[in-house]
Amino acid sequence: MAIPSGGKAPVMNSTTQARAPRAESAWCDRDGDPARCTHFEGLEIHYCGEVLEPRPWTAEQSRWATELLEAGDVPRGPVLELCAGAGQIGLAAVATTDRRLVQVDESPIACRWAERNAARSGFGDRVEVRCGDMAATVRPGERYALVLADPPYVPSHQVDDHPDDPRSAIDGGHDGLVLSCRAMQVAIDHTAPGGGVLVQALGAAQLHEIAELVAMRFPGWHLVEVRVVDEHRAVGLWRQVP
Ligand SMILES: C[S@@+](CC[C@H](N)C(=O)[O-])C[C@H]1O[C@@H](n2cnc3c(N)ncnc32)[C@H](O)[C@@H]1O
Repeated sequence: MAIPSGGKAPVMNSTTQARAPRAESAWCDRDGDPARCTHFEGLEIHYCGEVLEPRPWTAEQSRWATELLEAGDVPRGPVLELCAGAGQIGLAAVATTDRRLVQVDESPIACRWAERNAARSGFGDRVEVRCGDMAATVRPGERYALVLADPPYVPSHQVDDHPDDPRSAIDGGHDGLVLSCRAMQVAIDHTAPGGGVLVQALGAAQLHEIAELVAMRFPGWHLVEVRVVDEHRAVGLWRQVP
């Protein structure tokens, strides 16, 4: 298990109310919910309260993805991001590369912000946002060099411990694993030979629970590295090992 080096801290300012144009505030369905703005790995990210607020620690997933893409540890080709929210993790992942990025989320509001954030960051021409369930929006035959997934992973009975987060963004079902397992299935079905799958979870323990279920269903797919942020935050890399 690899513990992250104590290197650079995530680049993210505290969240501030943006002086966003009225048109953007109007995208929030809740009355009076203004557009907000934050910085994530140097990108300006806009969102509103119905979308999960970008969390600084998740830059670990972006940085790991960039590392794999830049080192050529995955094949050439596009990147897929499942459960993209406002899109910041995937945008930061491909920012220094020339990769195409497909971002998927089932929340129409999240998708609108993701599209807007891609355009604002100057990546609009190589980012495609697809709105809908992850299994329905990734097309048969599509293969990606790297798949990022950040599914809801909080067990339903613990969701009330996070009153500021939209339930639809964090509720991972009775054991917290329902959406993670679905995301793994979609990811594995659409990963190019030699590619990888980077997944966020509720700590290393949850990653290992997912790994056991994945191994039963997809022999050959292994959790090959875990980077732990803390007890409740970790990212895992899956690969197909012959
Ligand atoms: C934990 S949030 C992560 C959002 C974003 N990656 C971030 O860090 O802010 C999970 C996201 O998954 C989306 N989601 C939930 N179920 C989904 C599904 N079946 N298909 C696609 N997206 C889904 C939610 O709308 C939410 O934006």
